[in-house]
Amino acid sequence: MPIIGVVGVQWGDEGKGKIIDMLAADADIVARFAGGNNAGHTVVFEGKKFVLHLVPSGALNPNTKNVIGNGVVVDPEHLFKEIRELESAGIELRDRLFISSRAHVIFPVHRELDISAEKWKGAGRLGTTGRGIGPTYADKAARTGLRICDLLDRDHLARRLRALLTEKNENLARVYGRPVIDIENAIDSAREYGEKLKPFVHDTGALLRAANARGERIVLEGAQGAMLDLDHGTYPFVTSSSTCAGGFAAGTGLPPRALTKLLGVAKAYSTRVGEGPFVTEQNNETGAKIRERGREFGATTGRPRRCGWFDAVAVRYACEISGVDELSLMCLDVLSTFEKINICTGYRLGSQSYREFPAALAVLDGVEPVFETMNGFDQDLRNCRKYEDLPKNAQTYVEAVESMIKVPIVKISIGPDRSEIITRAEVVSRAGRTQR
Ligand code: IMP
Repeated sequence: MPIIGVVGVQWGDEGKGKIIDMLAADADIVARFAGGNNAGHTVVFEGKKFVLHLVPSGALNPNTKNVIGNGVVVDPEHLFKEIRELESAGIELRDRLFISSRAHVIFPVHRELDISAEKWKGAGRLGTTGRGIGPTYADKAARTGLRICDLLDRDHLARRLRALLTEKNENLARVYGRPVIDIENAIDSAREYGEKLKPFVHDTGALLRAANARGERIVLEGAQGAMLDLDHGTYPFVTSSSTCAGGFAAGTGLPPRALTKLLGVAKAYSTRVGEGPFVTEQNNETGAKIRERGREFGATTGRPRRCGWFDAVAVRYACEISGVDELSLMCLDVLSTFEKINICTGYRLGSQSYREFPAALAVLDGVEPVFETMNGFDQDLRNCRKYEDLPKNAQTYVEAVESMIKVPIVKISIGPDRSEIITRAEVVSRAGRTQR
């Protein structure tokens, strides 16, 4: 499996972690290429639950190296909290965690600006995670940001951070009426983090390219989902990075052609955290039942997720953008006990139908979903070991989704446990691919 990418094809929280965990068991390297500690990925290791936000998921496998690529934004305070938690559970990251010298740094001022901007927007807020992600990527694009390598050079760091904070303090005080940041304290703290980071900092692009040349197995761990992609998602209700497969080359320093296989991950229904259009949302008993059965609360912020039916228009669009080879359909068990299950096959606004995902917010806010209604299933799926064990109606549902999104569904998750996943052997052989 030389280089396998895993991306979400909805609004994040698709259950990518479970698929990445499975792949990580055999991987030499797991690399993150975008996002920051806005992501949340729950893993259970020796009976203990960890929520990883920034450290890649290979951390729990002692033989796997973990790369935080240049496309990721790194909050050092948060990073060391996560490292401490892992180390206190006996998981050593020295010589196993490699952070790109080119990754941009999230400073406390970015968090403050994120939260202040959200408050300032009032009803127009995006519903961000408040982790400073947007302001950090904004500084990266404005060429005022600091990279990890800047933290390692004391004088350079002081100059750059002083310039950045002088401008941000104006913004904090004048626009948001917030207290300003003490610049000298901030420089001292950043220098301390620079010292602590030193052993972890590398040219991770060179490391990954060399590993690829040696034929090592690399898993590229996507964060969030395609519909939150800065370019392709429901802008402006998106995150600030490229969450689709297109982001992996820019965010790692591996060439685009290096990718050998791309796995997409979708839930059997839809969820979204934060504001923004959500055509199939069920703001009713159905949505509440999905939330309850699926325990749909954010791993990062604990917010209840908005829930709705599977949106085949959005997922097909997302799979096309990334060039998904195979899809894993997660949480099918959550749909059990629904008498009827809907799949959205198109959008309608007045007399106009949309089969492609529209760009304009006004259209997305106005469209009605066109649903195909399928019969539900009542059985507990957790004892199913192979596809044929699934109730006939569940199989019909999976095959309907597959034909609408035009991507083979190879894995189906039927419960939260690592083992509760079915591989459709006949689909693997039909597609002529090899997948564990
Ligand atoms: P930000 O990434 O914190 O700027 O938030 C922008 C939008 O992306 C908000 O709607 C967040 O709720 C959403 N978001 C960011 N990270 C995740 C995630 O890991 N899962 C689901 N939604 C996310």
